Amino acid sequence: MKPLTVALMAADVVGALLVPTLAARLLNGGTAAMSFHTMTVTALQMLAASLVAGCCAIGAGYCCSVLAARVAKDMRDAIYIKSLDLSVYSWLLTLVFLMFVCVNLGITKILAGKNLEVAAARQEAVGHLTGAVEEYYQGRDVIKASNREDGSAERVRGLTEQVRSVAQKADFLTNCINSIIRMFNRFSQAIVALLGGGMMLQGTMSIGVLQAFFQYMNQVGEPITEASFMINSTQSALASAERTFAMLDEPEETPDPAHPNVVEEPVRGRVEFRHVRFGYVPGKPLMKDVDFVAEPGRKVAIVGTTGAGKTTLINLLMRFYDVDTGSITLDGVDTRTMSRHGLRREFGMVLQDTWLFGGTVAENIAYGKPGATREQIIAAAKAAHADFFIRTLPKGYDTVLDNEANDLSVGQRQLLTIARVFLADPAMLIFDEATSSVDTRTEQAIANAMNALMADRTSFVIAHRLSTIRDADLILYMEHGDIVEHGTHERLLEQAVAYAKLYDSQFA
Ligand SMILES: Nc1ncnc2c1ncn2[C@@H]1O[C@H](COP(=O)(O)OP(=O)(O)OP(=O)(O)O)[C@@H](O)[C@H]1O
Ligand SMILES: [Mg+2]
Repeated sequence: MKPLTVALMAADVVGALLVPTLAARLLNGGTAAMSFHTMTVTALQMLAASLVAGCCAIGAGYCCSVLAARVAKDMRDAIYIKSLDLSVYSWLLTLVFLMFVCVNLGITKILAGKNLEVAAARQEAVGHLTGAVEEYYQGRDVIKASNREDGSAERVRGLTEQVRSVAQKADFLTNCINSIIRMFNRFSQAIVALLGGGMMLQGTMSIGVLQAFFQYMNQVGEPITEASFMINSTQSALASAERTFAMLDEPEETPDPAHPNVVEEPVRGRVEFRHVRFGYVPGKPLMKDVDFVAEPGRKVAIVGTTGAGKTTLINLLMRFYDVDTGSITLDGVDTRTMSRHGLRREFGMVLQDTWLFGGTVAENIAYGKPGATREQIIAAAKAAHADFFIRTLPKGYDTVLDNEANDLSVGQRQLLTIARVFLADPAMLIFDEATSSVDTRTEQAIANAMNALMADRTSFVIAHRLSTIRDADLILYMEHGDIVEHGTHERLLEQAVAYAKLYDSQFA
């Protein structure tokens, strides 16, 4: 088998080396004067060489697998014969030895189970600690203002102590297995020596046989010790895998359709909610029947008390959640038949929680449109009334913001996100309470930027301050998840019900 394998490998290598040489000859023949006959022969030689090399490679692969299987088989046979040898020397000593092997395997099983438990506990403790540290770091200002530094430090100390305690247990369990198994191996050697010595005294066993028995015991015992250690040390990886799989097993959002519908370009921006019913918790509907149309280019304002369902309406529009019954259409296309990516591409969002990342001001603005030129970025910033303050920053557009953009005010961050949307130039807009936490002058700047952005785009504006939405084409007043009043500002004031009361409470 071995010479055949070597011959096949050699033929494979020769064939593989021959192909490029023949190809070079053929190509040179195309430029130099070579007869068509010679070219055909060379091409056929190339084909033959490829065929031979391929067949030889397959044959060599087959031979290698035969050899590997044979080696494994021979090893198994040898081990079996060796165990027979052991019992040939003395069945009593073999029994004692096998009993200790079983004890070792039992110990490994128990310790591995315990180790898995502790490894899972360690990961949970580390998770709690990381969560708490992140939470406290984000809320550090509130913690300081409430004089609760000691309390938070105490909780973190408690969690680090928990991590230390379980980590210590886990490390101990991983490391002690070798010593325990070796200890039992020595016990077995002592007992075998005792029994073997007795047999020697009785003259039923020679010293040579006892020595051979000891050697065999070592040969079998060492791999068992190693295997126990390996099994035990893989438990923490197994615990991670269990957590990973538990996460992977969580129900996923419904997959996008295989052939998603697309909205005809240019997008007009007509959005229709048709008898939408939705609840975050199954069996507990929040929206029972939401039904309205946002005509292209119009400004739709969504108002209502806290918890009324305004953000939920946007969540459904963007398909962060899917409706239970009813439908939402964009230019007549049911959004559930579109891909989420295709749908969200058409919207630009400005939220109260601005999100800026560690990078320059220019990079942050360009986030919605990778590859935008510097001129486009500056034009977007100007349109968003952000240019004037960006120029006052130490390095202008190249000022690097830290991860949380702490070096900017809330209003400035808001203007940057508006500039980002300007640059992305989506067909439709969503503003969720974009101006509720800034002073009146900044609010005016943001309102100007928003109005410029909203011109000719269908926009959804959620606002607590009704001053910003008086000019909306449609105002939806929500309560307990549903729209209870809708119309223009004037019409709703005339009706003098919920919206009018809310308006009076702000401006009376
Ligand atoms: N992810 C969620 N899981 C379960 N319930 C939720 C979830 N998000 C919101 N809710 C509940 O749905 C209701 C509507 O919440 P929503 O965020 O839409 O209110 P909102 O009108 O935007 O309020 P606000 O003016 O305070 O922003 C609330 O009762 C809220 O507790
Ligand atoms: Mg909200």
